[in-house]
Amino acid sequence: MSFKRYLNAKASVERRSLDPTVLKEVEALIKGRTEPTVLEVGAGTGSMPIHLSEKDVLPEGTSYTALDKDGEVLDDARRRLSEHRLSETGSDGAVNIDGTEVGFVEGDLYDADGGYDLAVAHAVLDLLPVGEAVEHLLDLSEAFYFPVCFDGVTAFEPTYDEGFDRRIEEAYHATMDDRAGASRTGRRVFGAVRDSGGAVTAAASSDWVLFPGEDGYTEDERYMLRYIVETVGDAVEGAPEIDADRLQSWVEDRLRRIEDEELVYIAHQIDLAGRSN
Ligand SMILES: C[S@@+](CC[C@H](N)C(=O)[O-])C[C@H]1O[C@@H](n2cnc3c(N)ncnc32)[C@H](O)[C@@H]1O
Repeated sequence: MSFKRYLNAKASVERRSLDPTVLKEVEALIKGRTEPTVLEVGAGTGSMPIHLSEKDVLPEGTSYTALDKDGEVLDDARRRLSEHRLSETGSDGAVNIDGTEVGFVEGDLYDADGGYDLAVAHAVLDLLPVGEAVEHLLDLSEAFYFPVCFDGVTAFEPTYDEGFDRRIEEAYHATMDDRAGASRTGRRVFGAVRDSGGAVTAAASSDWVLFPGEDGYTEDERYMLRYIVETVGDAVEGAPEIDADRLQSWVEDRLRRIEDEELVYIAHQIDLAGRSN
C-alpha cells in the first residue's frame, strides 16, 4: 500500500473532522497581517493548503512554505495542488491556490529559519519529541496551528476479542512511545506550549470516525481503513504479548469486515492553535 495514497485518502476524512472553532481562531490569529507568511512542517502531499483554501482561512496574498524532509511527497504535493481547480503554477514551481502562493522546500524542520506569522504542523507532532518540536516551532513563528495531534485512542468495532483488542491497542501505542513521538501527544502539547512561553487560545478534538454510511465506505475511506489495519498489524508484529497466529487472524478479520462494509474505526485527536509568545 502507498503512504502517499493514504495521505491523500485521509484528506477527505479530515475535511469533515478538522475542528471549525480552531480554524476560526487560526483565521483570527493571522487577520490584519499584510501578506502573511506560513510555514508548514511535515507538509506531506499538500492537504493543508487545500483545506485552508477551501475553508477560506488564509487572507489573499498569503505566502505559504510547505516543508518536508521527503522530497517525493513534495513532488506529489506540487502535482496535486497544481491540479486543484483554483490553482495556477508559476515558473519557479510555486503554485498559487486561491490567492495563496505555495512554495515547496525539502528539508528538516529543525533547519528552518524563523520569522513566520504562522507555523503549522498537521499530523506530525506525534512523530517527534513533543517538547523540543513545539519549542522550535514557536521560536519560528508568531502563532501556531497544530491540527490532528494523536491522543491515545485507536478503536475498532465490532470487537474481535476485547482482551486481545486491548493488548493490540496498547502494543501499538507503545510502538509510538518507543519512537521519538508519543501516543498521547495531543494532551502533552498544552504543557509544551506553556513551557515554551506560548498560549493555547483554541483547542478541540478532531477525531476520525470512519463507518460505512448508507452507501458503504467511500473509496478513500476503504483505502484508509485497510492502510491503518495493516499499519497496526505490522507495528505490533513481534511484540512479546501478541501471539503471532492470533494477530494474523485479527488482521484477516478486520480486513474481511472492511470488505463486508462493517468495520468502524475511531482515532482520538486534538487540534490546537494559539500565540507563540
Ligand atoms: C504523517 S505525515 C503527515 C503529512 C501531512 N501533514 C498530512 O497530514 O497529510 C508526516 C510527515 O512529516 C514529515 N516529517 C517527519 N519528520 C520531519 C522532520 N524532522 N522534518 C521535516 N519533515 C518531517 C514526513 O516526511 C511526513 O511527510
